[in-house]
Amino acid sequence: MTVSGEVTALYTRRGAGSYFGEPVSMLEHGLQAAYFARAEGAPASLVIAALLHDIGHLLDDVPADIHDWHADARHEDVGRAWLAQRFGPEVSEPVALHVAAKRYLCATDPSYARRLSPASVLTLRLQGGPMSAAEVAAFEAQSHFREGVRLRHWDDQGKLAGFNAPGLHEYLEMIDALARPQAG
Ligand SMILES: [Fe+2]
Repeated sequence: MTVSGEVTALYTRRGAGSYFGEPVSMLEHGLQAAYFARAEGAPASLVIAALLHDIGHLLDDVPADIHDWHADARHEDVGRAWLAQRFGPEVSEPVALHVAAKRYLCATDPSYARRLSPASVLTLRLQGGPMSAAEVAAFEAQSHFREGVRLRHWDDQGKLAGFNAPGLHEYLEMIDALARPQAG
């Protein structure tokens, strides 16, 4: 199967589910994040990273009600592992960092924390709260940290009820152009 076929299958199977505590479905959320990445003129690798940043949620069964979470599901690690088998680090690494980027921004940008949605404030606590100074320095030492921060902003923007972003078909060719050749 092509990677675009796998993505289509995942979003068809699970994408209609609501995006934890937000007024959009998982598919709408990914499409909106990709839309905002494209609107900013981001490279294709980051547009696809935005589209697929929560793929870990589609691969993993986690409770739909955020209040049932007893620990963070670490969806960024699940997503990164899946993406790293199919794309280069310019796609998988920003995804790996997008949750930490929220903790980073909460520590470094005082206006950022005030703009978080209520659901995002709740998960922040599960994710460990704002970064310490040592964590900030370690985060900035990672090669894709800037891309992870950009992705975080598109993630935060992509929660608009009633905003119909362009559909998945817009991205299928881009996905297969970026993907490594698949065995079998
Ligand atoms: Fe997200």
